[in-house]
Amino acid sequence: MKSVELPPYAPTLIESTRAIGYSLEAAIADIIDNSIAAGASNVDLYFFPIDEEYVAILDNGRGMDENELTSAMQYGSKNPLEERSKEDLGRFGLGLKTASLSQCRVLTVVTKIDDLLLAKRWDIDYVSKTGKWSLLILDSNEIQEIPNIEQLMKYKTGTLVIWQKLDRLKTGEINFEQELGRKIGNVREHLSLVYHRYLFGETGIRKLTIKINNMEVEPVDPFLTSKSVQVMDDEILIIRGKKIEVRPYLLPHISKMTSDEIKVMGGKEGLRKRQGFYVYRNKRLLVWGTWFRMMRQGETSKLARIRVDIPNDLDDLWTLDIKKSSAIPPAEVRNNLKSIIEKLADKSKRTWTYRGKKELDDSVVHVWIRYKTRAGGFIYEINREYPLLVEIQRENIEIANRLSLLMKQIEENIPLNSLYLDLINDEKVENERDKSSKEIILTLQEILKTADNSIHNNLLETLKKTEPFCNFIIEIDQAIKEGKLQ
Ligand SMILES: Nc1ncnc2c1ncn2[C@@H]1O[C@H](COP(=O)(O)OP(=O)(O)OP(=O)(O)O)[C@@H](O)[C@H]1O
Ligand SMILES: [Mg+2]
Repeated sequence: MKSVELPPYAPTLIESTRAIGYSLEAAIADIIDNSIAAGASNVDLYFFPIDEEYVAILDNGRGMDENELTSAMQYGSKNPLEERSKEDLGRFGLGLKTASLSQCRVLTVVTKIDDLLLAKRWDIDYVSKTGKWSLLILDSNEIQEIPNIEQLMKYKTGTLVIWQKLDRLKTGEINFEQELGRKIGNVREHLSLVYHRYLFGETGIRKLTIKINNMEVEPVDPFLTSKSVQVMDDEILIIRGKKIEVRPYLLPHISKMTSDEIKVMGGKEGLRKRQGFYVYRNKRLLVWGTWFRMMRQGETSKLARIRVDIPNDLDDLWTLDIKKSSAIPPAEVRNNLKSIIEKLADKSKRTWTYRGKKELDDSVVHVWIRYKTRAGGFIYEINREYPLLVEIQRENIEIANRLSLLMKQIEENIPLNSLYLDLINDEKVENERDKSSKEIILTLQEILKTADNSIHNNLLETLKKTEPFCNFIIEIDQAIKEGKLQ
């Protein structure tokens, strides 16, 4: 069999790869991935919307020598099948070119190494003119003309990526400057989530600072780690000898979040939409807020979020896409994940419908009890064993009888429909609001004042095992020590 060499026609291929479907934020993230892989600790983004508008992405990574820069500019510079270093966030040898040229017509990469500045450029219009893969090489005078070059010169090593002729960013925009402001907002939000573990400086990774027009990007923790509960142990799945780490989280109920926290979590609607898996490839968030069709995004599972950490050497199994914005778990992982989500969703449902009650903890005396009926439904009843009720029954049987009638009325008239609607709409139902320890001690003092002296000590001990007092043991013991409760 004979063969002929048939390289792609440069102008057509460059134009077509512009349509891979990058959003501005995904394109920026692809460039930042390269900076992280190059060991950068600082990434500065500049959006300059006036006159000859441009976008600049500057890092203080290790930079590139002449050969490396040439190879970096080549489409398909690295084989996707090649093994990568553990920290590398790349895979296809395309990102720098495809992400950049999806947003602009001129891509310039300047890099500094050993006090040497080198710059090369893809200009789509020039490639169209020559009909060839003609890469432009800038001389030292031309390099001095590049926007923000002085910032790069301050670093010992680093790389500056410049996008000019922002045709895609400008398409259809009447007021480009204003619209760009909105888009920058999206970029900031995206980066604060996608790189939050780098921005926090999690142990084991180099801390990263990202600034947009000199303003630092603050990390957003999608698990609200300081308040969430890790209700189940981590699970480690081993695939082809590589580790996948799974950590299930249950967010606190919305009434326990501050309004700032609710806002960062995407608002009430965002909370529901962003439940699901959070898949990180080398600690960089790849896909989030999906159950991969293993479960519906329901109301009752909205507090469940599962962190999945995958290494970069299982990319083929997860069918990673060029934009690094989708990945699908392989069958062998799906089965394991499925059993984890079922367990977690069940716990989420419980927090949602019956929060704060230690249902399973028999040592605690609850105010309300939830019974399963024979018909398969549930019934909520005030606990007749609740210590204060027991005491009243003992002291005055007539009042106890009347109280019993009243409790029945309360139980039969719980405003369920309205409660249900309030909870579904994330209204703040304040019946169950957090009490301060001061209020708790005052209530206890009231109770003890009215109680029969002979049962004092026992009553206090019983109340310590009773809702809501059981959540304040330390404060109560302290008050006893100080003689406030006797
Ligand atoms: N900021 C940078 N600092 C140092 N080297 C870089 C930088 N950006 C790119 N490179 C080099 O250029 C190469 C090509 O980058 P490019 O983003 O096109 O592909 P990739 O990162 O290898 O894979 P992917 O297509 O998955 O992003 C990188 O592998 C890296 O060696
Ligand atoms: Mg890359």
